[in-house]
Amino acid sequence: MTEPLDSGRPHPARVYDYLLGGKDNFAADRAAAEQGLQANPNAATAPRENRAFLRRTVRFLAESGVRQFLDIGTGLPTSPNTHEIAQAVNPAARIVYADNDPLVLAHARALLTSAPEGRTAYVDAAFQEGERILDSPGVRDTLDLTEPVALLLFAVLHFIEDADDPYGTVARLMDALPGGSYLVVSHITADHDPEGWARFTAVMRRQGMASRLRSLDEVARFFTGLDPVAPGVVPILRWRPEADSPFTDTQVALYGGVGRKP
Ligand SMILES: C[S@@+](CC[C@H](N)C(=O)[O-])C[C@H]1O[C@@H](n2cnc3c(N)ncnc32)[C@H](O)[C@@H]1O
Repeated sequence: MTEPLDSGRPHPARVYDYLLGGKDNFAADRAAAEQGLQANPNAATAPRENRAFLRRTVRFLAESGVRQFLDIGTGLPTSPNTHEIAQAVNPAARIVYADNDPLVLAHARALLTSAPEGRTAYVDAAFQEGERILDSPGVRDTLDLTEPVALLLFAVLHFIEDADDPYGTVARLMDALPGGSYLVVSHITADHDPEGWARFTAVMRRQGMASRLRSLDEVARFFTGLDPVAPGVVPILRWRPEADSPFTDTQVALYGGVGRKP
């Protein structure tokens, strides 16, 4: 469950919102984001390209026939949101969002504007409570877990320290979904600029936010047992790009991939 809203402490959803140019953040979030940007200016580039990766992958899945989505670490509403992208392809698509930020919860009503043919729901929970998310009324009443579901983990796993068993939680979530389900991950990496991201991580940790960046092999490990969808786990700029990006892999610093459960 979420902690009560504390506007005096920064939270990842609101820091990210500020980096995306949003208005749903407090002074503590803006200060943390500015300190992060001083430590590593590339922190401003990753969020925008991450949203572009979200758009490309959700549209790919919807066009591949996936009708159900579980988006954990939803973030504050940023259009187009997952349901808008999926329902533009299939208005009957069903989407469940889950996040542990009370401000995201407060915005959930605005976020949950499903097309009339489809459905959306919101679960107030942390990723670490994976099984509780699956057993929640939001999931049980919205998704049919005998039919394929796409589990979406965009820019959330780097907030999960190893001690919280992110690999085990992802594996248990995928185990609960039927064959033909998908996993999508995007994840910040320090591979291209270890020093810049070490400075950034130190700032985030000082502000009380978990920060566990992972290497290519560590990100690929989340897809163990799944069939990779081409081009596999790659810097997100190289995942089926639709236009030339003005940025480099070093500036974007995110790996991403899609895997299908056999
Ligand atoms: C960087 S934002 C990414 C938002 C969105 N998924 C995207 O890619 O644009 C990270 C989101 O993960 C959420 N988050 C962080 N730790 C979490 C946790 N342990 N459980 C659930 N959500 C978490 C934050 O509240 C925030 O909304």
